[in-house]
Amino acid sequence: MRKSKKGNEASQVIQEVKDYELDPEAMIQTFELAKIYNITEGIEIRALNGVSIDVKKGEFVSVMGPSGSGKTTLLNMIGALDNPTSGAVYINRTNVAHMDDKQRTNLRLKEIGFIFQFYNLVPVLSAYENVELPMLFAGKPKQEIEKNVNKFLDVVGLNEKRDHLPSELSGGEQQRVAIARALCNEPSILIADEPTGELDTKMGMEIVKLLRELNLELHQTILMVTHDPSIGALAERMLKMRDGKIIDTIITNN
Ligand SMILES: Nc1ncnc2c1ncn2[C@@H]1O[C@H](COP(=O)(O)OP(=O)(O)O)[C@@H](O)[C@H]1O
Ligand SMILES: [Mg+2]
Repeated sequence: MRKSKKGNEASQVIQEVKDYELDPEAMIQTFELAKIYNITEGIEIRALNGVSIDVKKGEFVSVMGPSGSGKTTLLNMIGALDNPTSGAVYINRTNVAHMDDKQRTNLRLKEIGFIFQFYNLVPVLSAYENVELPMLFAGKPKQEIEKNVNKFLDVVGLNEKRDHLPSELSGGEQQRVAIARALCNEPSILIADEPTGELDTKMGMEIVKLLRELNLELHQTILMVTHDPSIGALAERMLKMRDGKIIDTIITNN
């Protein structure tokens, strides 16, 4: 059956009002999120198969699960880096699907800080310049940039190595630079995909403990993917994923 474009839009709005109950305390809410990749004709991979999660403002939640269970796909949908096949993502009660390109770019630049497994620092820029980069993109005034870069390099304990290139820093130090970079625009959400994947357990624990301290102080909402149970347990709540679904939720005493 063919529907007019207008008719489709109207029914979509009605469906959302009816189905999606938004929680005023939630920073991130997903509803029946699905992502299907079509590898070749006739072969589909269901990377996400109906994920509904709810992360409160200021909450620190970890997502755990074996490789291929859909963790990165989930983060990509929440970070507005990719579109779901069906379902919805709300960030601070706004449906990401309803945002235009400019609003999405703004969301990624100003509201979300990203931390990755391989740090993703620019190799030819110093620690200071790497941290400064998102603020330059966001068009912040020079004074504010200087103040924030210094503040967050201090917070991660790296002001003394501000002029070092990434290649002159250890893995743990590079991840600290990446954390400072993610925080310098003062985002409301931090999204971290296996942030300790390249670090030994002791350094990994230190990095995530730092994230937890910052979370308690600055109240950003944190969603962190890890496959290491001792790292995941540092969050307030652990979500377990398998085959594109959340199969369990564990409240920790943190
Ligand atoms: N761009 C893509 N194209 C096709 N399949 C993909 C793509 N990205 C991820 N997948 C598949 O989706 C599933 C979930 O992947 P991913 O979210 O990366 O899992 P995890 O991060 O938990 O290891 C895997 O089977 C993976 O091979
Ligand atoms: Mg992954």
